[in-house]
Amino acid sequence: MSTLPAAPPAETPDRLAFYERISKKHLTPLWTSLAKLVTPEPVSACQPAAWSFAEIRAAMIEAGGLITAKEAERRVLILENPGLRGQSKITTDLYAGVQLVLPGEVAPAHRHTQSALRFVLEGDGAHTAVNGERTSMHYGDFIITPPMAWHDHGNETDEPMFWLDGLDIPIVQFLDASFAEHHDEEEQPIARPAGDSQARYGSNLLPIDPPAASGASPVFNYPYARTREALSHLARTQAWDPCHGLKMRYSNPVTGGYPMTTIAAFIQLLPRGFHSARYQSTDATIFVAVEGRGRTRIGEDFIVEWQPRDIFVVPSWKPVVHEAADEAVLFSFSDRPVQHALHLFREKRHDV
Ligand SMILES: [Fe+2]
Repeated sequence: MSTLPAAPPAETPDRLAFYERISKKHLTPLWTSLAKLVTPEPVSACQPAAWSFAEIRAAMIEAGGLITAKEAERRVLILENPGLRGQSKITTDLYAGVQLVLPGEVAPAHRHTQSALRFVLEGDGAHTAVNGERTSMHYGDFIITPPMAWHDHGNETDEPMFWLDGLDIPIVQFLDASFAEHHDEEEQPIARPAGDSQARYGSNLLPIDPPAASGASPVFNYPYARTREALSHLARTQAWDPCHGLKMRYSNPVTGGYPMTTIAAFIQLLPRGFHSARYQSTDATIFVAVEGRGRTRIGEDFIVEWQPRDIFVVPSWKPVVHEAADEAVLFSFSDRPVQHALHLFREKRHDV
């Protein structure tokens, strides 16, 4: 099996003159760009990258003195991939930012077609309201906002609240399908008591009539306490996967699929001293260290030393190796549902 030509054909004066002539008619030859368009393996401008939470936090506190959550709409610092500067992207098709809500502040109610996740990094007890229900936010909680779901955030605690936002903004942008609107009220009316969706959909029970299909999980808060308990329980008996340790994915209890149509999320436990086998996948992945310390090698030469709350990104098809100095927990998210839907997802394990 041979690969496609790696380089375009030579540029001759005749060819160049022809290209220029047809360019005026909005035509261009495929043979000069084919090698860049159809590559034998993924080639991405997305680079391995890492952010220390301590640095993000310091910048966010500074931002807190410069602009209110209300004026900013969302007081967020975008984590911009160094290979994709100016594009508001952490990977080619996902966005991530860290949001700060100070005590007493409200991030006003709005809704949009973009799907969002929150992963709580610091603070205890601020709230997010989604479609008429409030949920309390605690460290490590994974919270989702489905497309066109009203959402607002408020902090009635005494401490600043930080979380990671992950959105499919570049996917929706690519599809030219962005719609957004503000609520008339700063905070949306609350229609159901806290815990309603957890009881209704997140307790191994489902209503006998299926919920209206939205593509997103009706459970919108996956509390870390429950996730961690499951990991601890499974760690007693389950053999460690050479590439992943003990890795599980968050699910939509109605479909068994991913929590959102565009974003998959995962949680993994690595035992102390674990050294993973090399692993590659086509879904560029954003990781957050939740517990423990360790280091991750991305590609041949990018090494990130991480501790709780630090964030790093593994581009598509870059080999990744995790080493855990302590027992560690990593949260991660990617565009895997999109890749599965399009039958594009590939992975390669190096333990076999
Ligand atoms: Fe939003």
